[in-house]
Amino acid sequence: MKKKYMIVGNWKMNKLIEESLGFIKKLAPEITDCDVDVLLAVPFTSIHPTSKAAEKTKIIIGAQNMNDARKGAFTGEIAGIMLEEAGAEFVILGHSERRQIFHETNDFINKKVERALQDDLMPILCIGETKEEKDKNKTEEVLKKQIKECLDKISKEDVENIKIAYEPIWAIGTGETATVVYAEKIHKFIREYLKQLFGKKCADNIYILYGGSVTPENVSILLKQKDIDGVLVGGASLDLESFLEIIKNSVGV
Ligand code: 13P
Repeated sequence: MKKKYMIVGNWKMNKLIEESLGFIKKLAPEITDCDVDVLLAVPFTSIHPTSKAAEKTKIIIGAQNMNDARKGAFTGEIAGIMLEEAGAEFVILGHSERRQIFHETNDFINKKVERALQDDLMPILCIGETKEEKDKNKTEEVLKKQIKECLDKISKEDVENIKIAYEPIWAIGTGETATVVYAEKIHKFIREYLKQLFGKKCADNIYILYGGSVTPENVSILLKQKDIDGVLVGGASLDLESFLEIIKNSVGV
């Protein structure tokens, strides 16, 4: 049986507090009967107000990054317990923009995953290959390394609380979505590898989301694939109409 789909919006560095609140207030009443999970990763400054506004709605609020330390002299960083206190229930970790622009390594991301689990935040761990790696047929090798190193020392029980987001870097913000055949092939590969590492039950239960130029037009065909359990949406989650359409087009797929 297919899992309940998870639709996650990643606003990245967009929207001030007032705009975030307006979005939540308009979205919430439209999706009360939608049988999918709806999550929004908002900017840090919007976490507290939007999590309050999202109480008693279907919308779950989360963050886009955190530090691996619990507290301390790390100027400009933010701790998991701070996100949790502000109302975040999940955190995106290892997004390709963090890896590429801010040079985050698998080892650092692994420490963040451990900390997020300790701080009761559900991690959404992002993995994905560059265009160059894809062209050199290195996708599987790259993904294996990312999965192995980012999930190092994580127990089977904890792994089931983590969501994996496969985001091919060449498909992010480019309008070039992976073909469904390619996306499903890679999702299946990821699940097989998780099975090797953590066993069948864990691999079957774990959510594997697809991200990269998801739109209202392509969401249902992506979700129809056996190993795609949800989507992580960037650009199309910024516009209320398109995000709502993505959610509606996910229901009953
Ligand atoms: P786009 O949907 O804009 O391609 O972004 C995907 C993404 O990075 C979500 O985390």
